[in-house]
Amino acid sequence: MTAGDPKRFDLSRGGTRLHPVHQQRVRRDGSADDPPPLDLKDIPPDLLPDAVAGWQRLLESEYESVVVAGWMTSALARMGAPLDVLGAFGRVVEDEVRHVDVAADVLNAMGVAPTLPRDVIPPVLAWKDDAQSDEQVVAGLVSFFCVGELLSAFEFRHALTLVRLPIAQWALSEIHRDEAFHGAFGFETARLFVPDFTGAQKDRLRARMTADLVRFERRIGGPLPGEPRELTGKERDMAGLGLPPPPVMLAVFYNALETQLLPRMAELGVELDLKVGKPG
Ligand SMILES: [Fe+2]
Ligand SMILES: [Fe+2]
Repeated sequence: MTAGDPKRFDLSRGGTRLHPVHQQRVRRDGSADDPPPLDLKDIPPDLLPDAVAGWQRLLESEYESVVVAGWMTSALARMGAPLDVLGAFGRVVEDEVRHVDVAADVLNAMGVAPTLPRDVIPPVLAWKDDAQSDEQVVAGLVSFFCVGELLSAFEFRHALTLVRLPIAQWALSEIHRDEAFHGAFGFETARLFVPDFTGAQKDRLRARMTADLVRFERRIGGPLPGEPRELTGKERDMAGLGLPPPPVMLAVFYNALETQLLPRMAELGVELDLKVGKPG
């Protein structure tokens, strides 16, 4: 429990005899680097609050990924998905736990103890053992993995080209190392189900994906009005701390949407309206 805020709880990373097991997974059986030290003098004091807020937001979305990937693994198991799918999704759960840990290392180095919201993560779907719940699971799979994980992997890849602060660079590369695969796991699994969807099911999937894309666009600060503009000095400095500004993230989003997501969904037999997510 976080003092003074009943809606949040402190992220706990230790206190049990399982800590070595967790650490071994986080550090990839000893093959991952430890976080480099952070000298707070490397962060301009006026940027520190925004840097903390940005890394705290990232930690929260990674934590949400733990919840969703765990639920998805369990739902796919109940649907009888092949064991190699379940094994791959089990790995995603482990990866997302690692990402929370990595973001927590950055926040700790900035002198902050990470906290999490109690009620932001929606409760998982109530299972009813009917065809509709299977469709809901597959729609959730497409929404989270094919849309969210695919697009955010491109965001991480681009953020890595701009980051300068060593601990932020370490954290982004640890996260990207895993995220690069998560979208592909989603598409490979969706191939088992989506091509057999009826026309009505595909229409519902399209509507859900459209809503997802609008939400993603808004979450990264879009849509931006007007013409592309030069970045401000502060925006460039924030990108150096691992937190690229909205114009950069939106450009990556529109590009990945058009060149990656739309063609891959078309391969699954789901054509999306090209106007979705376009600027302006
Ligand atoms: Fe992640
Ligand atoms: Fe992921």
